[in-house]
Amino acid sequence: MNEKEYSQEDWQGHYESNDLGWDLGQVAPPFVKLWQEKKLPSGKVLVPGCGRGHEVVFLSENGFEVTAIDFSKGAVTYLENALKVRSLSGRVLHQDFFGLDDSHDGIYDLVLEQTFFCAISPRLRQDYVLNVARILRPGGTLVGLFYHTDKEGGPPYNTTREDIETHFLEKFEIQQLDKTSLSAEQRKDKEWLGIFQKN
Ligand SMILES: C[S@@+](CC[C@H](N)C(=O)[O-])C[C@H]1O[C@@H](n2cnc3c(N)ncnc32)[C@H](O)[C@@H]1O
Repeated sequence: MNEKEYSQEDWQGHYESNDLGWDLGQVAPPFVKLWQEKKLPSGKVLVPGCGRGHEVVFLSENGFEVTAIDFSKGAVTYLENALKVRSLSGRVLHQDFFGLDDSHDGIYDLVLEQTFFCAISPRLRQDYVLNVARILRPGGTLVGLFYHTDKEGGPPYNTTREDIETHFLEKFEIQQLDKTSLSAEQRKDKEWLGIFQKN
């Protein structure tokens, strides 16, 4: 358990020491299934707190116009290289998600994330929802895997169904919110797969 709020330097430290316990080393399987079922809206997608960006590579490979954001240099450098060696396109921004300027307003069809909502301090959750709503086009979609750690403290901070409903219902219609059976082994029965449409 970690009671201290994480700073940018703390996250960067994880990349410097290669201590990336959250990194699945592959795109999260529930996202692949959604894509196979054609349930991911095509077009412009933003991946906040992308880390090494396995989702970003997958989305770029499959024709999405991807923007990825992470404020840790280690994450950004890794992802830029991963895209380059595969000759894939993608915009990788080294910046704070909460500082996105108004050039991002209303331009994304999809925001796709995993283990970012649980990584930020719970005091920032409402701000997260407002920012995602701001950058999505009207009717745009947020697809996320939300980590139900069932533990005190963090990161990762526990995310219950009630937490999700409390924060998202003001700006989004919840189209799907279930524990997915497709989680990677270490997250089995601990992930909510959410599909939320901006009001
Ligand atoms: C737990 S990791 C998850 C990374 C990736 N989503 C994954 O699942 O592999 C959280 C990531 O969010 C980044 N991060 C945390 N707060 C951020 C912020 N305010 N703006 C941008 N990135 C942030 C960290 O640098 C870290 O790479």
